[in-house]
Amino acid sequence: MDDLTAARQLYDTVADSYVRRLPDASFEAGEDLAIIGRFAALIPSDARVLDAGCGTGRMQPVLRSLLPAHRAVGVDLSDEMLRHARLAYPQARFDRGELAALPYPDASFDAVFAWYSIIHTAPADLAEVFAELRRVLADGGAALFGFQHGSGERRRSEAYGHAVELRAHLHSVDDVSSELERVGFVSIESVVRPARPGEAQDQGFVLVRAV
Ligand SMILES: C[S@@+](CC[C@H](N)C(=O)[O-])C[C@H]1O[C@@H](n2cnc3c(N)ncnc32)[C@H](O)[C@@H]1O
Repeated sequence: MDDLTAARQLYDTVADSYVRRLPDASFEAGEDLAIIGRFAALIPSDARVLDAGCGTGRMQPVLRSLLPAHRAVGVDLSDEMLRHARLAYPQARFDRGELAALPYPDASFDAVFAWYSIIHTAPADLAEVFAELRRVLADGGAALFGFQHGSGERRRSEAYGHAVELRAHLHSVDDVSSELERVGFVSIESVVRPARPGEAQDQGFVLVRAV
C-alpha cells in the first residue's frame, strides 16, 4: 500500500480517538508554541492561512489567538479527520485534498502551516509537496513545518488506542530546509527540540519565507 493510502486509512480509523486524546495544543511544548508565535509575527493578522494537513483542526485556536482576523482554510486527505474539524470549527473552511495536488489556484495564501503533516511523506517525495505548497503561497508568504526529527522510518502497531499499522518518516531540519530552498523558499530558522519524556524522537521545526 502506498504512503498516502495508508495514511488516509490510518487517520480515518483513529479520528475519533485522536480528537479525544489530542483535543488541543496542550501537548505542545513551550518551544513549539514559541516558533508558531514567530511564524505568526511574520504575517498580517488578516492573512489567508492554509492549515496543510489540518487533521481535526486542533491547532485552529492557536492560530486564531495569534492571528484573530486570519482567513482559515484547512486541507487534509482524511474525511474522518475533516468531519471533526468541520464540527469543531464551523467558521473555518476545510477541504479534502493532498499536499502534492492542492485544490487551490496559484498564490491563494499568505501563509502555510504544516504541523506534523509531512510525516507520511517519504524524503524522496518532499520536493513535490514543497513545490506545490510554494505554488499556492504568495511571494513573501511564510511557511512553518513541524515534524519528528531524525532519519529513516518509525513503525508502530498501535496508534491512538487502535491496533493499526502506523508508518511515518522522520526528517532532518537540514534536509527539509534544503529541499525547501530548492523550490523557492529561504530559510528563516530551524529548531531541533530534544525529546521530552514520553516522546520517542526529537522534534524539528523549519520556518521559511517564499521568494
Ligand atoms: C499527525 S496528524 C496532524 C494533524 C494536525 N496538523 C495536528 O497537528 O493535529 C497528520 C495529518 O496529516 C494528514 N496528511 C498526511 N499526509 C498528507 C498528505 N499528503 N496530504 C494531505 N493530508 C495529509 C493526515 O491525514 C493527518 O490528518
